[in-house]
Amino acid sequence: MFITFEGIEGAGKTTQIRHIADYLSAKGHRCMITKEPGGTAIGRRIRAILLDPDSRGMHPGTELLLYAADRNQHIQELIRPALSSGKTVICDRFHDSTVVYQGYARALDMALIHDLNQRVLADFLPDMTFILDLEPTIGLKRAWQEVKRGARTDRETRFEKEDLAFHQKIRAGYLDLARRDPVRFTVIDASQDEGAVKDEILRALTDKLQALL
Ligand code: TMP
Repeated sequence: MFITFEGIEGAGKTTQIRHIADYLSAKGHRCMITKEPGGTAIGRRIRAILLDPDSRGMHPGTELLLYAADRNQHIQELIRPALSSGKTVICDRFHDSTVVYQGYARALDMALIHDLNQRVLADFLPDMTFILDLEPTIGLKRAWQEVKRGARTDRETRFEKEDLAFHQKIRAGYLDLARRDPVRFTVIDASQDEGAVKDEILRALTDKLQALL
């Protein structure tokens, strides 16, 4: 089973992914947690280029191709083998991030993005995707607090430095994707406290697991 988590900066994906992995592991699933960009050693080098605030001169097309390169390596090296061996893979961001960040927010050609995603993913799609939905002013505040207390490096803040309008487009993009495919996506209100968010995700997860059986 392949589960992805999406959302704006500071939505709490990392924390919730840990909760879900604990829950599934207790139920007997062998879980692998991973993320994009940077799920592999090669991907971590690509991540450093992508998120470095000094990369501000990066052309949007270059950005798109680097995310695609990271994803290709990630699927081939890590995700596909893990799924083939029967593991449950939980991934912090996947191809929907490209549709939303490079498509909705950077306004790159959607047909090109879908074509690239199609080539990299082939027959491959998450079984379920949780969108942690949050007002961008709150998310950005949380994200910068993490940088301040050292939980996140300031060498990875190129997207946090984008303006509020950019982050509003991201949020609207995710909600639009969810409207178009309510079967794969579940939108979770991430403004609630950590425990309430966890409970809501677990409820949706249990329903979906039953539907998949
Ligand atoms: P994060 O690992 O802290 O979520 O940071 C990753 C950043 O990269 C985040 O701002 C979203 C962005 N991103 C894209 O723009 N396109 C993509 O395809 C992916 C996977 C991430």
